[in-house]
Amino acid sequence: MVHIPLIKGLLKNVHNLRQTLLLQKNISKRMRPDDVIAPTHLAIETTNICPAKCVFCPSQFLTRPRGVMDMDLFKRIIDDAKNCSSINFITHGGLGEPLVDTLLAERVNHEKSMLGAQIQIHTNGALLSSATTQKLFDAGLDVLSISLNAFHSRTHRQVTGLDYDQVRKNTEQAFKIKEKSGVQTDIRITMVQTKNITQAEVKDFIAYWRKFTSKVAVHPQKNWGGWHKNNVTDPKFPCKWIWHMMSVNWDGSVTLCHEDYDAKHVIGNLKNSTILEIFNCQDLQEIRTLFAKGQFPSRDQCHECSRLRLDKAFWLESKIKKLPSGIISYTYRPNR
Ligand SMILES: C[S@@+](CC[C@H](N)C(=O)[O-])C[C@H]1O[C@@H](n2cnc3c(N)ncnc32)[C@H](O)[C@@H]1O
Ligand code: SF4
Repeated sequence: MVHIPLIKGLLKNVHNLRQTLLLQKNISKRMRPDDVIAPTHLAIETTNICPAKCVFCPSQFLTRPRGVMDMDLFKRIIDDAKNCSSINFITHGGLGEPLVDTLLAERVNHEKSMLGAQIQIHTNGALLSSATTQKLFDAGLDVLSISLNAFHSRTHRQVTGLDYDQVRKNTEQAFKIKEKSGVQTDIRITMVQTKNITQAEVKDFIAYWRKFTSKVAVHPQKNWGGWHKNNVTDPKFPCKWIWHMMSVNWDGSVTLCHEDYDAKHVIGNLKNSTILEIFNCQDLQEIRTLFAKGQFPSRDQCHECSRLRLDKAFWLESKIKKLPSGIISYTYRPNR
């Protein structure tokens, strides 16, 4: 007699083994630290000011100065991105609330006309008025990702310090404006799974927002390079960020990656260097070489980073492109 559960178990093991082998093969084949690498994703923090106090985010504890990116610097960065010809994705989030920046829609407009890249904003929704939403849609924003982070007012206040009723009203209004104006902007709803939220609340959250969009995601809590002590186990996967993404702070400074929330390790500034120069600086090349040798950096920020446990999809899904100049780039678009 055929034993169905046994066969299912065997098939699952074979599938897991295949995935592991594919992952190992992809990881070693894909790391090319000797090439000149151009980023495909720019994470531009246009401000690090934020009125919220999310329990899982270090924004309220920043010691670096607060501010909003100067428009001339912003335009210089976008000109440089155009010269790079590799940037196809820009996100605005950083360690602030992008909607505090009143020039945000103007910036999105500029990015769309100069680069045609996909533009995504992460917002906590508190300042998402109807006028702001309309301006962002008119500017050609591709993805409006709203970080709701709870389903009930009480937990939302505990987790973010914000007024949930206002945030929920703004979010529902954004869906209405999208429908009315017929724009293509993708609205996504996200939650970070914290200990404040029960499984029942997660279920209610998903069920409620699925009525508006299929793009509802619940993400595990990352530890911001060891800021939280959760998820600190042995690292498993090489870091993905240093191969495809450049993280720029509001003052033009660039850090190893955006997990360096307080800019403790600045590797350059786009006020006086180019994207390509910084992305191929000695610091980054040394770390890439270490990963390519199968080692992990000993510096605290990397060593304790939960990303090295979470991010295996990049090694299975990213695409490497070689530009005519010989420069290579890695394209990877997480569905966040
Ligand atoms: C740092 S916020 C900045 C943008 C904006 N203020 C917001 O909340 O969307 C960008 C995204 O990171 C998420 N985030 C912050 N801390 C996190 C953590 N520890 N783990 C996972 N996601 C986190 C937020 O929920 C948000 O979706
Ligand atoms: S997650 Fe966003 S809204 Fe919350 S504190 Fe951090 S920057 Fe502010």
